[in-house]
Amino acid sequence: MSESKIKTLAVMTSGGDSPGMNAAIRAVVRQSLSVGLQVKGIFNGYRGMIQSEFCELQAGSVANIIQRGGTILKAGRCPEFLKPEIRAQAADNLRSAQIDALVCIGGDGSFRGAQLLAEEHGVKVVGLPGTIDNDLFGTDYTIGYDTAVNTALDAIDRIRDTAASHDRLFIVEVMGRESGFIAVDVGVAGGAEAVFIPESPITPDQAVEQIKKGMARGKMSSILVAAEGQKPGRAYDLAEAIRKRSGFEAKVCILGHIQRGGSPTARDRILASRLGAAAVDFLLKGQSSVMLGLQWQDVVATSLVDTYSQRKPIPQDLIALSHILAS
Ligand code: ADP
Ligand code: F6P
Repeated sequence: MSESKIKTLAVMTSGGDSPGMNAAIRAVVRQSLSVGLQVKGIFNGYRGMIQSEFCELQAGSVANIIQRGGTILKAGRCPEFLKPEIRAQAADNLRSAQIDALVCIGGDGSFRGAQLLAEEHGVKVVGLPGTIDNDLFGTDYTIGYDTAVNTALDAIDRIRDTAASHDRLFIVEVMGRESGFIAVDVGVAGGAEAVFIPESPITPDQAVEQIKKGMARGKMSSILVAAEGQKPGRAYDLAEAIRKRSGFEAKVCILGHIQRGGSPTARDRILASRLGAAAVDFLLKGQSSVMLGLQWQDVVATSLVDTYSQRKPIPQDLIALSHILAS
């Protein structure tokens, strides 16, 4: 579709919500209105798309939200969207509402759905990386990641106070689905004695070794950070494995969904605002089926397929650093 034919654009949030999604919605709306486009919001992710939960968005619709976590459009999970006939219904609804293009703010799952809408029904879509996991190929950071890391770090600093007061061992589990980005950044920033991530597993024996090394130099409390990995509750498995090997009793703290909330940091607000405005520009230039991300300081387009089919590596030097600084 040439630039001139996009008159109405829709914006949605999907999958796990993340701090900064509202800033992205705001930027999409304000940029669209500034170039004469109409904007519709889709509530509840793909579930709202199949139920035509659409609403007009004006400048005032997105006032006073840049500082708010969560998403005013809500972000649903909608397993039905895996069915082609459901996606066809969604595409029909977009056409009936005279929506010419879509901005999808979400993670890899949302992008899989968006790519299918593009392939099966020619929907013009640009994805924005809205997830705390930071696991999307094509962007240095995802919207919400910086806030989630700082939230988890604040929690770990608090846990360290009580660990030091009672000479205790804590295992703190952080989110990230199957990636260890949050864990490794929080581990380094929080001074963890060990970091467990799916990308570079360490064994409970190695963790016990680290703890004992610290004890040998008088360090009687330790904080271990564990990515939730494939199964939430991994931290309990680790605590039991450490207990069996050493007799050390570890307290477990699963941070869970507090990492998804809170007011977005400046970095997330600026990232979300840049990408949200750029999404409109890219669509008007005729680009679609891409995710916009930040690489170094530049907004760069990556094919949607690559964002979820290419694995984004954690820098090896950062993983090595997390071990060195802990010793
Ligand atoms: P995220 O986008 O944060 O990764 P999910 O993995 O839950 O979150 O995906 C969000 C939504 O995207 C799902 O609820 C579903 O509606 C849609 N979705 C996910 N994976 C697919 C897929 N393979 N095909 C079609 N739709 C999908
Ligand atoms: O993808 C974001 C995320 O927070 C993951 O880190 C986590 O594993 C998952 O969502 C939790 O999903 P839900 O909010 O559906 O429990």
